[in-house]
Amino acid sequence: MSDVAWPFLTGRNIYIERAEGVHLYTRSGQQILDAAGGAIVSNIGHGRQRVADAVARATLDTSYVVPPWLTPAREAMLKELRGHWLPPELSRIHCTSGGTESNEAAMKIALHYQQAIGATSKTKIIGRSISYHGTTLATASISGHPARKKGLESAMPRFPVVDTPYPLRCPLGSFHHDTGAYYADLLRDVIESEGPDTVAAFLAEPITGSSGGAIVPPDDYWPSVREICDEYGVVLILDEVMTGFGRTGKNFGYQHWPIMPDIVISGKGLAGGYAPLGGVFATEEIGAAIQNAGFQVMFNTFGAHPAACAASAEVLAIMREENLVQQAAERGVYLQERLQNAFSNHPHVAEVRGRGLLAAIEIVQNRETLERCPADNAVTNHIVAKGLDKGVFFYGGGTGDVRDVVCMGPPFVISESEIDQMVDTLLECVDETLDNG
Ligand SMILES: Cc1ncc(COP(=O)(O)O)c(C=O)c1O
Repeated sequence: MSDVAWPFLTGRNIYIERAEGVHLYTRSGQQILDAAGGAIVSNIGHGRQRVADAVARATLDTSYVVPPWLTPAREAMLKELRGHWLPPELSRIHCTSGGTESNEAAMKIALHYQQAIGATSKTKIIGRSISYHGTTLATASISGHPARKKGLESAMPRFPVVDTPYPLRCPLGSFHHDTGAYYADLLRDVIESEGPDTVAAFLAEPITGSSGGAIVPPDDYWPSVREICDEYGVVLILDEVMTGFGRTGKNFGYQHWPIMPDIVISGKGLAGGYAPLGGVFATEEIGAAIQNAGFQVMFNTFGAHPAACAASAEVLAIMREENLVQQAAERGVYLQERLQNAFSNHPHVAEVRGRGLLAAIEIVQNRETLERCPADNAVTNHIVAKGLDKGVFFYGGGTGDVRDVVCMGPPFVISESEIDQMVDTLLECVDETLDNG
């Protein structure tokens, strides 16, 4: 590959020739344990013949059909989604080709909805300080991810921001018992200061993904946020691109709490990485209001692509038949236990966190003060590189400001002994990088 410039900004070049189960195989024959499931995407594991067959069938039968029309693959996916995955409240489904497009579409749907019901001054969408929602100007702007916005500031629309719950670094004190109320009150404060009549929606990840490193909010946070959104007529959009479809041990991340969002976004796991697909799932009230007002929800040419829908229908059926969401919950408990054993007394690990098979560790210079390592040390990059040398792929997290976070999100079919390998390798990588071992 040395004669080909790839990727756009050239870097370490890795050539994966083949993938099967939880493993990737390089051209030189190295086996890599995919502890990141790619970009925290792969849920049923790699190389499933059933999915490949379904994609091949859809490609032959209906290579391309405009997104609003039905095809057998689209019908199969909708049946699967409605019958087994989505709550009845989320009856309206719009498909895109990924997470960014889904977030962008959901933001527009929320704005359209407010216009449709006559709340014409509600034009602002609140985002959170540590978050990631996508690559377009709007989704990058609303993301709390400075590293991915650098150099683009002048072209970015402004979105109001509220702090993301971060129990470890809560200003009231680490894991203070009022942490949930503290962060929910901040949302109320932002709505009040922006002007309640101007706020259309709130966009957030139920469990913060790789930007924060699997940060789970306190249990009272989401119920309070739901109440605040209801009180102020704010559409609650939950970005489940990373947490959706079983990753956290439930179908959706929000189901860890007794709440119902107005719009849910998905991507990644929806088709298990076998094809590009994103989804926006909204309530009937929202869909009907937009329809009655005559606004458009324009499709992307490749939204709901038949091959992608075929992949999704098959991936979701496999997850159901093999009880893989429950398995993600169980293996997630095992992973958390192993990580706690390895790192709970580690001088440079401030926290092990996550839910299900979305996990992370946060590395610090000083565990007592939570002082971060110098940015120039690029701790995460070193750990990820060492992991690859040792045959395990970890996912670097952080936003630039938040850093030294290493994430894990393996396929749900990972075994306990493979989890042992992940954790043992991570400990070696952390120790070698921090020069502690
Ligand atoms: C929570 C979240 N939202 C949105 C996105 C963007 O999705 P995509 O890369 O498919 O456009 C990502 C990608 O990592 C994500 O983790």
